[in-house]
Amino acid sequence: MATPLIFDTDPGVDDAQAIAIALAHPEIELLGMTTTYGNVDIDTATTNALLLAELANQRIPVAQGAAAPLIKLKHPAPAHIHGDNGLGNHPLPVPSHRAETISAPQFIVEQVNARPGEVTLVAVGPLGNLATALQLDPGIVDRVKQVVVMGGSIREGGNVTPVAEANIFNDPHAAARVLTAGWPLTLVGLDATHRCVLGPAQMDKIAAAQGKLGDVLAGSYAFYRAFYRTALDIDGCCPHDSCALAWLMRPELFTTARGHLNVVTDGDAEGQTLFAPQERTFIDPRWARTPLVDVCMNADGEAIVDWIVETLTR
Ligand code: BDR
Ligand code: CA
Repeated sequence: MATPLIFDTDPGVDDAQAIAIALAHPEIELLGMTTTYGNVDIDTATTNALLLAELANQRIPVAQGAAAPLIKLKHPAPAHIHGDNGLGNHPLPVPSHRAETISAPQFIVEQVNARPGEVTLVAVGPLGNLATALQLDPGIVDRVKQVVVMGGSIREGGNVTPVAEANIFNDPHAAARVLTAGWPLTLVGLDATHRCVLGPAQMDKIAAAQGKLGDVLAGSYAFYRAFYRTALDIDGCCPHDSCALAWLMRPELFTTARGHLNVVTDGDAEGQTLFAPQERTFIDPRWARTPLVDVCMNADGEAIVDWIVETLTR
């Protein structure tokens, strides 16, 4: 049976690749996409989600969500990484469908409650929608099947500050609620995603197989690749958000550890994810206070990229 899934996203170049996977994978039943600000403003995120589904000739519900962080002030969107339109400034048509009339958090609550124990939430942007869904109905903690979050960093260091990864940094207060809510959760952070580099030849194969959607994936990739070359001296891109789906479908490609997670919400380390492995005892009981979760510590990057290409070219 295919996995019923809600994809919470801020598309975003690497989000777009992941959306293509969620639309294409035969073992994923994409119930809907919920959008958040992050890589772009909220209206652009929603437009992009609608458009990407349309380019794949699919009609998927899209529910619009968070326009800003819960508490902190919003940073400007990273146009130098994802382009002004979130898709590398690649020229885009206007989608012909509109978003749902209910909000992203309401959509999440409704879908989870309609199919108790079945729905997986995959979140690859700042976590305001999931945090608000928890506030609307705390009971979803027991009714969701599992939650997979692309975000955070355990040993890898940060990508927007020396210690913080972008999705967690963008809304650390929401992240703190979501990562410590007590639902079955796996964190797929930079320790895994930085092991993966999707090169230009691999993107060419994807573009050739994905029709109109492929043009947008390749066009936006070209912009993102230029950023990676300058910033990290890599020829290719880290497909961060696709890794969350890779974990779901191919967990054996990741090394995970179980333990307690915390998020720093203020000060110089805001957005840092702190992990205390289950088997260690620390000097202070505070490190065992939060619920147990799984975090990715490493990954077989080459095999994950092969899986991405395979999924998008079959
Ligand atoms: C994450 O931040 C965003 O820019 C990407 O889309 C990804 O979700 C990587 O740190
Ligand atoms: Ca994202």
